[in-house]
Amino acid sequence: METGHRRRRERVHDETPLDPTYDHAAVEAVLEAHRRDPGRLLPILHDVQAHFGFVPRGSVRQLARSLGRSRAEIHGVVGFYHDLRWEPAGRRTLRLCVAESCQAAGVRALVPLVEELVGCRLGETTLDGAITLEAAYCLGLCTCSPAALLDDETVVGRLDESSVRELVTAARAEQ
Ligand code: FES
Repeated sequence: METGHRRRRERVHDETPLDPTYDHAAVEAVLEAHRRDPGRLLPILHDVQAHFGFVPRGSVRQLARSLGRSRAEIHGVVGFYHDLRWEPAGRRTLRLCVAESCQAAGVRALVPLVEELVGCRLGETTLDGAITLEAAYCLGLCTCSPAALLDDETVVGRLDESSVRELVTAARAEQ
């Protein structure tokens, strides 16, 4: 029988029970589905995110153990890919393109206004959970730069101060 001391020690060394969003069985099912895929870390992370809506931090230990990777590597991959996230997304997602063509068309000058109107910085979600504001790296609308995308549905090109205000108002409107 385990002693209370041993259980406490295991909790300190195992982060997973402390993460309420973590579901060991769900992550195991994703790992099993990719058991035969070589180099499968990225698709596994996408499937974990598809299940939870984000990558729970508590899943990192299980993923690292199962895939023979370090936890630092898992953290690095999630941090590197902009479409992977550690937190749940807002009810709406506004993606502002900051790639080359949009930069040449002046998107950097619009970023502070977008962040002010939305109420959070690029890469964050508003405190009320209404909007996630993301940087995008080319939306395929370079001829209409600068461009933005709301919920993978509404595309707005040739952004200026006026259209940014309209776009954020639309993003704030409940669907
Ligand atoms: S660089 Fe922004 S849409 Fe292509």
